[in-house]
Amino acid sequence: MDYGSRRLDGKSIVVVGAGSMGLTGWSNGKACAAVYAREGAFVTCVDYHLDRAEEAAHVITAEGGRAIALRADAANQADMQSVVTKALSETGRIDVMHNNVGVGRSKGLPDEVPLEDWNFEMTQNITSAYMGTRVVAPTMRQQGGGVIINTSSLFALRFIKRATTAYSVSKAGVEALTRSCAAFYGRDNIRVNCIRIGFSETPAALRYLDTSTTEEERQAQLDKTRTKVPLRGEHGTAFDVAHAAAFLASDLAGHITGVILNVDGGLECAAI
Ligand SMILES: NC(=O)c1ccc[n+]([C@@H]2O[C@H](COP(=O)([O-])OP(=O)(O)OC[C@H]3O[C@@H](n4cnc5c(N)ncnc54)[C@H](O)[C@@H]3O)[C@@H](O)[C@H]2O)c1
Repeated sequence: MDYGSRRLDGKSIVVVGAGSMGLTGWSNGKACAAVYAREGAFVTCVDYHLDRAEEAAHVITAEGGRAIALRADAANQADMQSVVTKALSETGRIDVMHNNVGVGRSKGLPDEVPLEDWNFEMTQNITSAYMGTRVVAPTMRQQGGGVIINTSSLFALRFIKRATTAYSVSKAGVEALTRSCAAFYGRDNIRVNCIRIGFSETPAALRYLDTSTTEEERQAQLDKTRTKVPLRGEHGTAFDVAHAAAFLASDLAGHITGVILNVDGGLECAAI
């Protein structure tokens, strides 16, 4: 797709969790990284798995965009500090930090979820967003502003038949982090927003759904969840998330902060 507008020309953007669980499929982070680059940004693609970060950067450079790949654990301060150092050495500034890491591993209520799984999801989902913010805020303050984009889920608000307590609590925490940071970083011209995703058909989301045994059953399961989406009865794609992210990252969203933006086809409004 030709974006034409180049709304992000000259910007330096770090996407943490820029790879895809499916390596070559379109995850939310990889689509965001690609759209940022198509809109003119230099993108630092960061992932726990270097091959996934490299694949995202490769997709961008193959299209003529500018990107580098780095390995880092999003919740590790030393790793994330070195991401900031490296991005600054490439571009001299960081305009946008996109905290996209998120993992849903456990199912169940507190008496069913082992402490280890609970702690893992809090670290992956909340601490990663805290850390991305922590390491980049001094740079943004010094350069006169910036944008932070966090990633939440409709599971922060709504529940399906099985309990996703740890994931839901962690994503609600990401939303609270977003709003508290927006309230106080505004004086430094740092905008902080969050994208709340309903269901985008990424390899990771499809794997999460894939509990049935046959392809036919899997398709039936997908059709059932699609029909619950008010907008055309369709799941979203990673690019629906990416287009929302590109707007939030751009100067067109210059007066928008503290927003939790649903990208869910209206699913929050529906009975699920
Ligand atoms: N796909 C959906 O339907 C959906 C719905 C709601 C929310 N989300 C959120 O969107 C985000 C991305 O989801 P996705 O479906 O594209 O998943 P994905 O697993 O394909 O992408 C996440 C990437 O983050 C990387 N990662 C994981 N832990 C990391 C860490 N500690 N440090 C650095 N990188 C790490 C993974 O290697 C992976 O490449 C997550 O925050 C997820 O919770 C997705």
